[in-house]
Amino acid sequence: MTLSIEHTRDMQPWMHDETMLFAYDACRIDGECIGWLPRVAYDQADQAGRLFALRNNGDLVGIMLFGLNAHSIKCYQIWVRRDARLIEHGQALVEHAEKIGQKLHKQLLSLWCAEDLPANHFWKSLGFRWQTWRWGSAKQPRRHALWTRPLLRSREGPLLHVAEHTTQRGSPTTPWAPKPSGLANLATPRLNSTIPLTQTERVLLAR
Ligand SMILES: CC(C)(COP(=O)(O)OP(=O)(O)OC[C@H]1O[C@@H](n2cnc3c(N)ncnc32)[C@H](O)[C@@H]1OP(=O)(O)O)[C@@H](O)C(=O)NCCC(=O)NCCS
Repeated sequence: MTLSIEHTRDMQPWMHDETMLFAYDACRIDGECIGWLPRVAYDQADQAGRLFALRNNGDLVGIMLFGLNAHSIKCYQIWVRRDARLIEHGQALVEHAEKIGQKLHKQLLSLWCAEDLPANHFWKSLGFRWQTWRWGSAKQPRRHALWTRPLLRSREGPLLHVAEHTTQRGSPTTPWAPKPSGLANLATPRLNSTIPLTQTERVLLAR
């Protein structure tokens, strides 16, 4: 299989239109999993360069819509066509998001995932760590888990680890409540003092 990933904003017009229709369709098909977004949300993500699509031998198989904050790249929607799952398409989309995050010197890749979805196994398989949970905003609220993965790694192991926010972290019965600063407090990295840093790593962290 030949995989290729391209941001919708950079596509040829015919390919762009086909991909946007594919993206609009995702929440019609699997809104229970990825939530519902109006077309304008995809259009804005497209214009901002925050929507990319994966092709396998030229066939559209998946999309990711992401956002950024000071510390993190956040996956808002990841979707692989039903007949193209479990053959590493999801992984390819995540790896691409990781590269974007690294290029922009972000330290975490993070996302919220409804706890009743099989996708939680996907995030766990890819090495994401469960951080906390909160109630979703749907009429019948579901618990949503926060999954994160550090983006900067040293050869010895993780360079950064996510701070343990004992006062913020939801227990199995108590949801996490966001502070006004949002995710930023959860994403604040601390140096793991047991791992020696290279000069390059020091420079990256000083930014
Ligand atoms: C979640 C989703 C993007 C995964 O895409 P995918 O292409 O099927 O996943 P991959 O083939 O890349 O799987 C990567 C790893 O996750 C595991 N995995 C993926 N889906 C899984 C599932 N439903 N149950 C158990 N493990 C799963 C794979 O076995 C693989 O593990 P391995 O490397 O140990 O073999 C896809 O199932 C999807 O689009 N689901 C509907 C939308 C959705 O739920 N989005 C996420 C909302 S948070």
